[in-house]
Amino acid sequence: MEKNTILVTGGCGYIGSHTIIEILRNTEFKVISVDNCLNSSPDTMERIEKITGVKVKNYNVDLTDKKATLKIFEENQDILGVIHFAALKAVGESVQKPMWYYENNMNSLLSILNACQRNEVNNFIFSSSCSLYGNVAQLPVDENTPLSKTESPYAHTKKIGEEIIENIIHVNNINAIALRYFNPVGADKTGLIGENPINKPSNLVPVITQTAVGIIPKLTVFGDDYNTRDGSCIRDYIHVTDIADAHIKALQYLKDGKNTDKFEIFNLGTGDGVTVLEVIKAFEKVTGQKLNYELGPKRPGDVEAIYSNSGKAEKHLGWKTKIGLDEMMASAWKWQQTLEKEKS
Ligand code: UD1
Repeated sequence: MEKNTILVTGGCGYIGSHTIIEILRNTEFKVISVDNCLNSSPDTMERIEKITGVKVKNYNVDLTDKKATLKIFEENQDILGVIHFAALKAVGESVQKPMWYYENNMNSLLSILNACQRNEVNNFIFSSSCSLYGNVAQLPVDENTPLSKTESPYAHTKKIGEEIIENIIHVNNINAIALRYFNPVGADKTGLIGENPINKPSNLVPVITQTAVGIIPKLTVFGDDYNTRDGSCIRDYIHVTDIADAHIKALQYLKDGKNTDKFEIFNLGTGDGVTVLEVIKAFEKVTGQKLNYELGPKRPGDVEAIYSNSGKAEKHLGWKTKIGLDEMMASAWKWQQTLEKEKS
């Protein structure tokens, strides 16, 4: 049987759902999803169907359940590869609930790798994060930048996650890629899907859009005395559709056997470092909305400044970003307005 199905874990989540859409738009692959919707909405698959015309099956399974995870693979013998997004992902929350983060993120990874190994599913893409670089001495960071101490349990789960994958695939036929995202933001161009945390958002852009519509009364800028050009933190914001596209290229790269190592790592960023205050200004300019914000204390676990050198992904995967900051803000705003219309 020709294997042509991609299993996306966390398919109801933000990056997972956008990746499913790009797979359906741009490739011949079929897709299935596994998501227990802990921090995402079960209606995501309906939104994906509305956009692509394809009904994707989601298994409502907790990936830490090894047996249930294996069953999905047994039912779907044509899985070509796994893109593993499912994880807890809030930096601040992870500082408060480290045990939960380690248990959930590590056990789910082990469970999915176990299922891949047992079922000869040999292409594995891991959702990693620039947060594992910690506070770095030199910017921009590339894949050879030494990792300093991680600033949060969330970041540490990504660091250990990469090491677990590298160790485990050493003794089987799996090839893997870790994609270290910088800060994914924005929404699909249709405005019909976007970042939709069912709990209170902690990431900057959903906080911005929810503040603009009044769900959040006031945005707090976390820290105004960092050693940066305006005192607020610097990040490399990247459009979620560009991130999605990189996953497809990475999977194709493994499928075509173009990798030189069993485990490879790529940074995914734009290369531009932008401050929190600059993001706020870009949003205000593009949307014409005035944001209610105040300068506040630093958030535990935050690094001061980080942005990417993504030259390796460009060279090997043939990938680079196409969408700029203004479009990131405009698309996030379009999506927030869709949510508002749905309420009324
Ligand atoms: C972190 C990780 C990133 C990961 C993401 C997952 C780092 C460097 N990056 O992103 O790899 O994918 O978590 O959630 O650790 N901010 C405010 N006010 C707010 C919310 C955020 O000022 O209400 C600021 C933060 O202090 C930060 C920036 O906005 O400087 C971005 O924050 P956020 O969107 O939460 O992402 P990171 O924590 O940078």
